[in-house]
Amino acid sequence: MEKDIRLAVIGVGAMGSQHVKDIQTMTGVQLVAICDLIPERMEILSTCNTQFFTNYRDLLNSVELDGVLISTPHYDHSPIAIDCFHNGIHVLTEKPIAAHMSDGKLMVEAYKEAIKHHSDLKFAIMFQQRTYGYWKKIKSMLDDGELGKLIRATWIITNWFRNQSYYDNGDWRATWKGEGGGVLINQCPHNLDLFQWFFGMPEKVTAFAGFGKYHEIEVEDEVTAFFEYQNGMVGHFITSTGESPGTNRLEIIGEKGKLVFENNILTFWKNKISMLKQIQTSIDPYAFTESAELEIPFEHHGLPGHKIIIENFVNAIRGREELIVHGEEGLNQLQLSNSILLSSLLNNKILLPMDSELFKRKLEEKVRNSKVKKLPGISLIPDISKSFGN
Ligand SMILES: NC(=O)c1ccc[n+]([C@@H]2O[C@H](COP(=O)([O-])OP(=O)(O)OC[C@H]3O[C@@H](n4cnc5c(N)ncnc54)[C@H](O)[C@@H]3O)[C@@H](O)[C@H]2O)c1
Repeated sequence: MEKDIRLAVIGVGAMGSQHVKDIQTMTGVQLVAICDLIPERMEILSTCNTQFFTNYRDLLNSVELDGVLISTPHYDHSPIAIDCFHNGIHVLTEKPIAAHMSDGKLMVEAYKEAIKHHSDLKFAIMFQQRTYGYWKKIKSMLDDGELGKLIRATWIITNWFRNQSYYDNGDWRATWKGEGGGVLINQCPHNLDLFQWFFGMPEKVTAFAGFGKYHEIEVEDEVTAFFEYQNGMVGHFITSTGESPGTNRLEIIGEKGKLVFENNILTFWKNKISMLKQIQTSIDPYAFTESAELEIPFEHHGLPGHKIIIENFVNAIRGREELIVHGEEGLNQLQLSNSILLSSLLNNKILLPMDSELFKRKLEEKVRNSKVKKLPGISLIPDISKSFGN
């Protein structure tokens, strides 16, 4: 009989406690330990037949396990993951992989070093939106060249609305010291990951951010970013936690048509001929291309998707599946997020690959100059299910 995969969850607040519940419903998986700085956090999970720790190093030193799920605040993802890699333990970390790119790079280096000794070691990231049917459909249409040469992609993702009470209930939330940023590093990692998955990485990033524009917070709650790609495509990424009702509209323009995802509907205006050809050849100065409006069907599981990523992690450890998202890919989302902030802070265009150490120094300066007195790491548990909607 196949041996159970032994998992531990480190950080059992809003997200981690959900991971604990998901793991308990899985067959062939044993939850061998949970860990949180706050003992009361684990008490609510006392029905788990498992060991409890308040220091993750004690857990790693005393429990035999195959893999961990890290769901602490972002700054702690990298030291915990690096310790796990040193011990040959598989890691599934919550998004973002780290609070900034320099820490993310250290994780990837530690992973690359570890696989020299444990060649089948897995490093995964919780980007559950990669399992959503509509995003998978868009990805396959782009990969199949259905839009031809890409011209522009614009994502208005402003339905991450948050009230002041959200920010007030977590001491680490929306602080430079506790989180390393605002909407970009907390709410938008999924969208930025999808942006790079669909279109690759831009060459240049120019951005403008509003810091505490709608909330009493020190970090960004409104962002407009402009991406320039080597192939000539341009991208826009517009986000906010201060707009209600918000918008989630992804509009992709290619020479062969316009693809729009909004209100859970995917619509393709398919051009009869390439618009780039039409521009060159039409004798009518004002004629648009003829196009057919098509609603594109897709299959979507309709679930939050976290459990699918955990199951995939377990199956990858068993050698049965390829990871849906490799941890290293998390660096791209961090680079987008960090370069957008850096561009806003320096009032400059940022060339990629960006100087991650410069960003780290800017972040450290922000932490030093912060007037916020909250201690990072402690928060009340909000209803996490309300934050998966995008
Ligand atoms: N994938 C998603 O959809 C999703 C949704 C929400 C949150 N998240 C991510 O999950 C992480 C946690 O977010 P949350 O909302 O659950 O926060 P939270 O504050 O509710 O929970 C974090 C928990 O980690 C504990 N903790 C902090 N430092 C620790 C350490 N060194 N060792 C052990 N425990 C420690 C805290 O005591 C707390 O209980 C964040 O990185 C966040 O971005 C992901």
